[in-house]
Amino acid sequence: MARVIMGIESSCDETGVGLVRLHDDGTVELLADEVASSVDQHARFGGVVPEVASRAHLEAMVPTAERAFATAGLKLSDVDAIAVTAGPGLAGALLVGVSAAKAYATALDVPLYGVNHLAGHIAVDTLQHGPLPKPVLALLVSGGHTQLLRVDDIASGITELGSTVDDAAGEAYDKVARVLELPYPGGPPIDKAAKQGNPKAIAFPRGMTGPRDAKFDFSFSGLKTAVARWVENTERTGDPVPVNDVAASFQEAVADVLTAKAIRAAREQNIGTLVISGGVAANSRLSELAAERCAEAGIELRVPRPRLCTDNGAMIAALGAHVVAAGRSVAPLDFSANPGLPVNVVSL
Ligand code: KG4
Ligand code: ZN
Repeated sequence: MARVIMGIESSCDETGVGLVRLHDDGTVELLADEVASSVDQHARFGGVVPEVASRAHLEAMVPTAERAFATAGLKLSDVDAIAVTAGPGLAGALLVGVSAAKAYATALDVPLYGVNHLAGHIAVDTLQHGPLPKPVLALLVSGGHTQLLRVDDIASGITELGSTVDDAAGEAYDKVARVLELPYPGGPPIDKAAKQGNPKAIAFPRGMTGPRDAKFDFSFSGLKTAVARWVENTERTGDPVPVNDVAASFQEAVADVLTAKAIRAAREQNIGTLVISGGVAANSRLSELAAERCAEAGIELRVPRPRLCTDNGAMIAALGAHVVAAGRSVAPLDFSANPGLPVNVVSL
């Protein structure tokens, strides 16, 4: 019999509650995906303030859940299992979701699964494109993470091939936006400005692409510094900063490195499908270049729609459904949030 899974997400600045239906054939159907964001409250600080995020989760949790049930036309008693983000993320923020999930699970007497936020970013793709082939290569690019992952089984088998040694790709966008006096979060305004600029105007460095660098690791802090220096030097001469050209050249450097390493990893690992997810997957140049390079390499590309790429509850519900379908064990009710949960731990 089909089962309804509720997903709760609160690892960063988005309170998300998703509802999905796990069908007997293993397919997962999206029923509701409600998100309340506290991003506006962090904008003037240029980054997420943990204490502000926790408080916002506390205020938004129950109303967001109520909206999800209203959208799906379901009652709380229709829920068969609950999945909640156990980590990685901000400790205080995670605790709000974990506590809410424990309360719902206890009240409804249904099983509770503590799941991995990063695996959720990959699992969400099944809501749009159907079951994942085995294996897939996942490029996870968000404000907090930049990773290349080999996914043999979304419910249990994720191996990290590489990750950033310093800033995450989204973090670099947010920092460069600040240098260019564009609003936070920096991804969308840089993406927009870049469309009017010349990506070849400035040759910004491609981090960690030397022969001695780890093949699948990334570095974006040198790029961020190079952009800041270039802008400072231009300002010193009294010339206006060509914001569109800087944005386009920066964006080209990010998209070039991300796609080049992803294609190389897929080739070396002999993997035929690339999934790109996380907030930065919404970037227009990244998906364009990935599509071009995947087509050349004969690799299938899957990018969930932007709404599913950024943090949400549906991704956690989707992962929960795959974990339930795989018959994984239920989390003990005394489990805690783990801010540093490693990516190979899909569920607790
Ligand atoms: O996945 P996400 O919503 O939250 C985290 O888990 O971090 O990702 C947020 C990040 C931010 O750094 C934001 O600047 C970036 O995703 N982002 C983008 C775009 N839209 C959002 N970066 C580049 N281009 C975009 N269009
Ligand atoms: Zn995320």
